[in-house]
Amino acid sequence: MASTTKIATTPYPDQKPGTSGLRKKVPVFRQPHYVENFVQAIFDTLPEKAGATLVVGGDGRFLNREVVQTTLRLAAGNGFGRVLVGQGGLLSTPAASCVIRKHGAVGGIVLSASHNPGGPDGDFGIKFNAGNGGPAPEAVTDAIFARARALTAYTLVEAPDLDLDTVGETRLGAMTVAVIDPVADYAALMAELIDFAAVRRLFASGFRMRFDAMSAVTGPYATAILEGMLGAPAGTVVNAVPKEDFGGHHPDPNPVHCSDLFDLMHGPDAPDFGAASDGDGDRNMIVAPGLFVTPSDSLALLTAHAHRAPGYAGGLAGVARSMPTSRAADRVAAALDIRAFETPTGWKFFGNLLDAGLITLCGEESAGTGSNHVREKDGLWAVLLWLNVLAATGERADALVRAHWRTYGRDYYARHDYEEVDADAAAGLMDALREKLPGLPGTRVGDLTVSAADEFAYRDPVDGSLTERQGIRIGFAEDARVVFRLSGTGTAGATLRVYLERYEAAPDRLERPVAEVLAPVVAAARALGEIAPRTGRAEPSVVT
Ligand code: G6P
Ligand code: ZN
Repeated sequence: MASTTKIATTPYPDQKPGTSGLRKKVPVFRQPHYVENFVQAIFDTLPEKAGATLVVGGDGRFLNREVVQTTLRLAAGNGFGRVLVGQGGLLSTPAASCVIRKHGAVGGIVLSASHNPGGPDGDFGIKFNAGNGGPAPEAVTDAIFARARALTAYTLVEAPDLDLDTVGETRLGAMTVAVIDPVADYAALMAELIDFAAVRRLFASGFRMRFDAMSAVTGPYATAILEGMLGAPAGTVVNAVPKEDFGGHHPDPNPVHCSDLFDLMHGPDAPDFGAASDGDGDRNMIVAPGLFVTPSDSLALLTAHAHRAPGYAGGLAGVARSMPTSRAADRVAAALDIRAFETPTGWKFFGNLLDAGLITLCGEESAGTGSNHVREKDGLWAVLLWLNVLAATGERADALVRAHWRTYGRDYYARHDYEEVDADAAAGLMDALREKLPGLPGTRVGDLTVSAADEFAYRDPVDGSLTERQGIRIGFAEDARVVFRLSGTGTAGATLRVYLERYEAAPDRLERPVAEVLAPVVAAARALGEIAPRTGRAEPSVVT
């Protein structure tokens, strides 16, 4: 008989969840009691766990299985009644959100470091999603951190590892463990939202796409839905088998890390549509033949066309975007006369707006798009909605984007990342900018004139909470904008993100090279931020 044991521990001071849960290098998580402490801290902040249902799963990266087993033992020790765990320990982030909501769970433990590399020297992460299926709000993550710093013991049921590979129910102490098909609930939800019959006809008519799962968790989902339910030819999904180290790659769907797909879509053999998703399946990249679609444009285009899908046929309540995301979606919202919100970076800020019914769609420049169907961004959902729009309009993907620009104008956009810079240097850069802000409006920087300069703070319209210091934004009279922000998801040093955009509406200025249009904005950003002198970097490490 399995017995419940209380084990003494000492707290780790560094278990502070970031933008998206606790994310650290694998060796950090392998320290004695490290995982147990953090999971116990999560459980200690959950008031109603006795007999409750919990969801557990992850993106399959190195340590996933081990931490699933540990979490199950702790869940049993903490009195949960039932745990739903994805077969093989797998659940994509959006699928976890879907399962939490569908089965009335109190929450879920999602194991992922999203798009960061995996493997023994890579990253790992643990995040807690609440009963609405969304990332824990800041009050909860603060409470988890406070608890983790004071923890003196954790409680678990000592038992051998469970079989996670066979669907079915077993027991762990008094708790039921149900190993579930990780795809089934999610696929059923997609079939409600998207016109599967129309997309099936599209594939039957010879439409071809490539979906790059980047050797990460979306492989099984995309294969079952695209190739299985929608009739796309076998081989449509590539890198479809999840690997613990993502095949040594960076599972981040952008033109740099998913260059195979990017190149294919820009070459002579481009299929009709290209898409990819990240480590845990919440991000997406969309590439039309010969044309990369920025996440900001993708959100805007889906906002304009979502009514073509059954799940959104009644229209949209509103749309939200994170502050550094381009204003393209706002232009559509204005035309549709629906609400538009600007939130801080981080999916959790959309939760209240979705729960309150103020918005239907939301998205971020960081390749996240989603809707009220779950409380996470959802990579495969975005791809399916695109397919629905393509099927409904009969248009080519690139033609659809160009038509969008003709109607709304084009928000030229790029992000420059300076990765792993010295943390003090990065903080110093932000401090210096902050001090400059009041004097900036009216000044000339190269070819541009500053029209507004502030640091973004967000007052949540639902709960009234205030979130400050969410990025420095500098607007220019020439319809351009620069945003400076430090990443909240890095695991080494600091990452400075510089978001650059410029709006052009003239019909003869819609097809210009992005770098050319943005050159004056880039120059202004470098000058204002004193980027090179302060970071020692003349050029960004990644441009997307
Ligand atoms: C995670 C969150 C996103 C957020 C992103 C920002 O992916 O889920 O909602 O946009 O982090 O990352 P950053 O590194 O810019 O803080
Ligand atoms: Zn992700």
